[in-house]
Parts: sequence; C-alpha cells; structure tokens
Amino acid sequence: MNVHAPSFFVPPRPAAPAKELGLYRFFTAVRTNALQIWPRAAYEQEAVVESTLGRPRLLINAPDAIHRVLVENAANYCRTSATIRILRPIVGKGLFLSEGEEWRHQRRTIAPAMAPRIVPMMARHMAQATEETIAQVAALAARGPVDIIATVQFLALEIAARSMFSLEMRQYGAALRRMIMGFGANLGRPYFLDLMLPAAIPTLRDLARMRFRSRWVGLMDEIIAARLRAPPEGKPRDLFDMLLAARDPETGAAFSRAQLRDQMATMIVAGHETTALTLFWSLYLLASSAVDQERVAAEVRAIDLGPDAAAEALTKLPYTKATVNEALRLYPPAFVLARVAIERDRLGDIAVPRGALIMISPWVLHRHLRLWTDPDAFNPARFLGDAPLVHRFAYMPFGAGPRTCIGAQFALTEACLVLAMMIQRFHVALADTTPVLPVAVIVTQPDHAALFRLRPRD
Ligand code: HEM
Repeated sequence: MNVHAPSFFVPPRPAAPAKELGLYRFFTAVRTNALQIWPRAAYEQEAVVESTLGRPRLLINAPDAIHRVLVENAANYCRTSATIRILRPIVGKGLFLSEGEEWRHQRRTIAPAMAPRIVPMMARHMAQATEETIAQVAALAARGPVDIIATVQFLALEIAARSMFSLEMRQYGAALRRMIMGFGANLGRPYFLDLMLPAAIPTLRDLARMRFRSRWVGLMDEIIAARLRAPPEGKPRDLFDMLLAARDPETGAAFSRAQLRDQMATMIVAGHETTALTLFWSLYLLASSAVDQERVAAEVRAIDLGPDAAAEALTKLPYTKATVNEALRLYPPAFVLARVAIERDRLGDIAVPRGALIMISPWVLHRHLRLWTDPDAFNPARFLGDAPLVHRFAYMPFGAGPRTCIGAQFALTEACLVLAMMIQRFHVALADTTPVLPVAVIVTQPDHAALFRLRPRD
C-alpha cells in the first residue's frame, strides 16, 4: 500500500551501500560522492562505528550524542586536518577555521554585524542583483532551456560579493569570481593525501594552494585598500562597513587589516555556493511538483519584491520559506559536520578515543527513518506553522551549538527572496527527464547541469 499522499514528489537519491565500505571503496566514495559512504543501517541506527587504517570513525545520529559533541563538550572537538589544509589558503585565519579564545573573540565581534537588523540592507542588495539576473535569464529563456545551476551560482556569488563590497564590484567583480570559481573547481577539492596526512606535512597540491593564497591575498588587499580610500558614509553600506566598525564587546578590540580580509574571504566562500545550491534544489523541487509551485506562485503573485520592499516582503512568504526549508532538508548543502576528538570522551554507550573522527551528517539525519515520516518525500508543509515541531538535532542544515552557521539568517533571506522573485516571474519546468541526483564532494550539488524551461508568467 502506498502510504504517501499521492501528490508528494519523491526525488531520486543515490543508493546507500548494503553494508560498510572497505577502505578503497570508502576513499573512492569520499572523492566521488560522499553521500554513499554510509550504509543503509545508518538511516535507522543511532550510530555507526567504523575505522580507517585503525583510526575510529563514528557517525552519530542520537540527539544526546550530537548535543555532547556540538554543545556540551564542544571544546573537545576541533576541525579536521583535511578541512584545514583545503580551506586555509582561501579563508586564512577567519572565523571558520579559528579555534579556542581566538574563535571566541572573532565570533563575539562579528555576531552583531550579522544580526537580524542588517536584513533590510542585505535584502536591498539581493533584490537588486536578482532583478538584473532575471532580466538576463529572461533573454536566455526566450531562446531555449537555461542552465539553472550556472545561473544561481553566478547570482549567489554576485550577492555575496556585493553584500561585502558593494562599491568595488564594478572594478573587481570579474577577478573575484575567477579566483573563487577556479579554487572551487580544483584546489578546493579533497585528494587522497589531503585526507591521509596531518596538516603539517605539505603535499604538491598544498604548494599550489600556497601560490593561490598569495594571489588571493593580493586581490583582497587591493579591494580593501580601494575601499579605505573611498570617503566613509554616515550609515553602513555593506558588510565591509559593518565589520570595519565592529568591536569585541568584551575587549573593545577591532579587527586588524589582515583579520578583516580573512573574515571577508570566509563569508564569501562559506556563503555563496551553499546558498546557490539551496536555490538550485528549491527550483528543482518546484519544477518537479506542480502543486507546490502553484502554491508558491499564488503566494508571491501580488507581493512587491523590489529592492525597497524586499525586507518587508519576507514576512509574507510562509510557503516559499517552507519550500526552502524542505529543500535544505532533502539536500543539505553541508552534508556532514566533521570533528576530531582532542581528548577521550564518551557518547552514551560509545567510548570515543583520542583522535577519533566524528561525523554528524545532516544528509543522514534529515532522511533518518526514526526521525521523519516519509523522509524521502518532498513536503514543504512539514515546515508550516501548524506542523509538529521537529527535534532540534533532527534538522540541522546550519549546524548547531556555538559554531552554528553565522550566516544562516543571511542565507535564508537570500534563498526566500530569490526563489520568490524567480517564481513570480517564471513558470519553471525541467527540460528533460534525466533524473537529477545529488552528489557530495565539498557540498551537495546536482550530478549534471540540468536544463530548465522558464516560461514568463502573465
Ligand atoms: C544555505 C546556506 C548555508 C548553509 C547550508 C550553511 C551551513 C553551515 C554549517 C552547517 C555550518 C557549521 C559547520 C560546522 O559546525 O562544522 C556553517 C558555519 C559557518 N557559516 Fe554557513 N551556511 C550557509 C550560508 C552561510 C553564509 C551566507 C555565510 C556568511 C555570510 C556563512 C558563514 C559561515 C561561517 C563564517 C561559519 C563558521 C562559524 C563558526 O565556526 O563559528 N554561511 N555554515
């Protein structure tokens, strides 16, 4: 018997292996599609304990264990050396990779600049950039199907960069885009030795990453110097102005020029691809579910989403927001949070040795059979106001605890606004029937550049 309501779209997903992977298949999956490293049992159990070359590797799903790692004993769990060696060249010593007291100082200083009161300023940049992209896309769509992943990647990077450096984009936008896209396509991907060696031992690829770093720092410093020469304005124009004025509420310290540069780089890198993917998957799901697309279209039909009205419009988009939340559930861009245990610990019945790799996977949690009804079905209504509350550690696209995503508000604002503007303007449909499967290497992306037909709405 089919237990779904018949209208629910159940998108295809990569098959989980029947049992735990051997070493070779594990490394192959990490490099090609990490969504396939967890066996079927992972979607039913509270934990899966495996090992790689003698080093314990734990996937944890139980709320208490997740709470212990991310909240209660968070200081005992640090970023992995693979994360550090791959991201350090581009994000430097910014918030994402800092630890301990240095992290606390940075987080305290940045947090007020990311508070909800910045939404109106950001929503204006977002709506402006989206209007421009929609005009370009409309011209393309009149000629044939459109590559939506390329479109949203372009737009999200444009929004991230304009929100940081609104004034300098005309001059530096192309160079910024070239460097970030180039890094993501090559040096930003994990290779075998990245996963195997401690961060202190450099590989040939690390040398290339160092060369990238010196060019990247050069570009960012040039942009910052150009901004500092521009006359200040009474009120902040973008995140750069906010972070320049930011002070640690406990010590009063401001960011140095180098810290400011690494923070800006961190925000652009952590924010743009993840948000682009959220948009891609939201559009894909709506293109696949006519009922839901019509509900969003009806919601946005009469709403002013222009730059001056965008911030206020956000309160009028519950179904659009629920669609974004559901897309983040089915396709969490950050599919795994990885940590290394600094000292021994205990997670319920499981003894965690020093150096163990701990994985908390939003991908697994969001499709866990004990945490969700019909986990594979697309049903935005799960996130409407009257739906039963989801357990805090069953749904965590932005992580949890003190290191939760500092840009979550920014990302949700952007995803809702852009989705609303796209659906207000176009009816979206997939141009062919090839299944679109999620593939995770660094983030959860589509396995191919799916083409969409966009038809203007009246
Ligand atoms: C849909 C989009 C996004 C998703 C899914 C996402 C997801 C996440 C997740 C899961 C974490 C926690 C990682 C961990 O605990 O290991 C995180 C951290 C972080 N995110 Fe996001 N993020 C998004 C957008 C953004 C944006 C727009 C920004 C900046 C404007 C941003 C900046 C950061 C930073 C700086 C951290 C590190 C925080 C810390 O360590 O204290 N993210 N993000």
